[in-house]
Amino acid sequence: MDCLRIAGGLPLQGVVTASGSKNAALPIMAASILADSATVLAGVPDLVDVNTLALLLGYLGVEVKRHADKTLHIETVDPRPTKADYDLVRRMRASFCALGPLVARRGRGVVSLPGGCNIGTRPVDLHLAALAALGADIRIEGGYVIAEARRLQGARIDLRGPYGPTVTGTANAMSAATLARGRTTLVGAAREPEIVDLGNFLIAIGAKIDGLGTDAIEIDGVERLSGASYQVIPDRIETGTLLIATAAAGGEITIEGIDPSHLTAVLEALQATGALVTLGPRQVTLRATGRPRPTNVTALPYPGIPTDLQAQFMALLSLADGESQISDLVFPDRFMQVAELNRLGARIERHGATAIVTGVPRLSGATVMASDLRASAALVVAGLSAERETIVRRVYHLDRGYEQLERKLRSVGAQIVREPDAQAGSPHAAAHRNIAAAARLQGVPR
Ligand code: EPZ
Repeated sequence: MDCLRIAGGLPLQGVVTASGSKNAALPIMAASILADSATVLAGVPDLVDVNTLALLLGYLGVEVKRHADKTLHIETVDPRPTKADYDLVRRMRASFCALGPLVARRGRGVVSLPGGCNIGTRPVDLHLAALAALGADIRIEGGYVIAEARRLQGARIDLRGPYGPTVTGTANAMSAATLARGRTTLVGAAREPEIVDLGNFLIAIGAKIDGLGTDAIEIDGVERLSGASYQVIPDRIETGTLLIATAAAGGEITIEGIDPSHLTAVLEALQATGALVTLGPRQVTLRATGRPRPTNVTALPYPGIPTDLQAQFMALLSLADGESQISDLVFPDRFMQVAELNRLGARIERHGATAIVTGVPRLSGATVMASDLRASAALVVAGLSAERETIVRRVYHLDRGYEQLERKLRSVGAQIVREPDAQAGSPHAAAHRNIAAAARLQGVPR
C-alpha cells in the first residue's frame, strides 16, 4: 500500500491539462454493450476504476483494449455472458451501469447489488424501478439483481429520489430505453454534463434522444445500435480539485482543455472566497489572493456545486477568515473527511447534513487516513496548504479517480511524492488488523 508525503506551504504555479472525465467514461464504457460493432473512445482517463470496468466488461464478453494513442477500443466478442460478479461490483458501484445495457441488448442482466459505501447507504431502488417500468422482470436472488425482458417497452419513468435525481440511475434508464420498443420519457432526469455526454455517445451510435441537459429526456427506441468513435468530456471534478488546491495553497494555475460551462457554480463559489478567476475558450485560470473569505457551500445536483467537490471546499474553507457552512444535500452523510481535517488543525463540527467550519489561520501537517476518493482529495488539498509535512495514507482511493494527480501537482511546484507506506506493513498495522478481525468476528461495529 502506498502513501503520499506532502511538504506543504508551497504555492502552485503553472499550467495543467485536464484529463477525461471518469464519471462520463464509466457509463459510456458500459453502454458500449449496446452496440453491434466496435466503439473507439478517446479521452478515457487511465484509472483504477476504468480498469475495473474493463475487467468486468471482459467477463461479459466485451474486449477492451487501450491503444498507444490513449484511445480505448471496445468490442463485443461474445454476447452470451450476462453476469456481473459481486467481487467487481463491490469494488466499484459504477459497475451497476452494466445492468440496463445487458437487459436491453442481451435480454438478461445479472448484477450484484453493490451494498453501502463510505459516503452513505446508496440504494439502487430508482435504477430497478426504471427497468421495471420498461417492462423488465426484476428479482433479487443471493445478493444479485436479475433483470430479464424479451424486449423492453417504452415508458414514462420518474428518476427523482429523496435527494434529487439519480445520476447513474438516469444512465441505466437512458441506455436501456435506446433499444426499447416505442418512446420513453424520463422525468426528473439528471442534468449532469456526464449524462449529457452519455446521451451524445448514444446518439453517435445511433440512438434517438431529445432533451439532454434538461430534466425531461425523450428516447425513441431503435432496432439496433452500431459502434462509433467518440471523445469523452474533460473531468470537471479534477479541474475543480486543482483550482481549490491552488486557492488553498496560494499561487496561480491554468487548467487547459476544459469546458468552463460545466464549472459555473464552482467558479462562483471560488470567487466568493476571494480567488480571481479568468476564463478562456477551453481554459480557466485561478489566482489566489491570500487567506480565503468564508462562504457557504451547498452541494446539489447539477447545475449546483457537485457533491464530489464538497470535501475539497471544506479543506479550503478550513483556512477562511471566519465561519462557513457546508451542506451536502445529495449525500447527507458524506463527511468522512471531517475528523481527518480536524487532525490537521481544522475546526469543523458536523450537524446532520451540514458542517460548520470555523476558519483557522493555518493547518499543521500530520498523518491522515483517506476514506474515499473525494475525501482523499480534500486531504491532499489540506496537506498542500498546511505547515510542515502531511502523510496521506490509503491513497489507493485517489488512484480510482484522479489520473496522475501527484505528477500534475508536481508539475506546478508542489512537493508531493508517493512512497510505500512503511506503517502498512508494521507490527502496529498488523496488530490493528488483528483487532479489526476480532471485532468483525464478534460483530462489533467499528
Ligand atoms: C454518481 O453516483 C457519481 N458516480 C458520484 O461520484 C456522484 O457523487 C453522484 O453521482 C452524485 O453526483 C458516478 O457517476 C460513477 P446518485 P450515483 O444515484 O449515480 C440517492 C465520485 O466520487 N439514490 O445520483 O451512484 C443516493 O443515495 C462518485 O466520483 C436513491 O435514493 O449517485 C443519493 O443520495 C462518488 N436511490 C442521491 O440519490 C437510487 O436508486 C444521488 O445519488 C439511487 C440513488
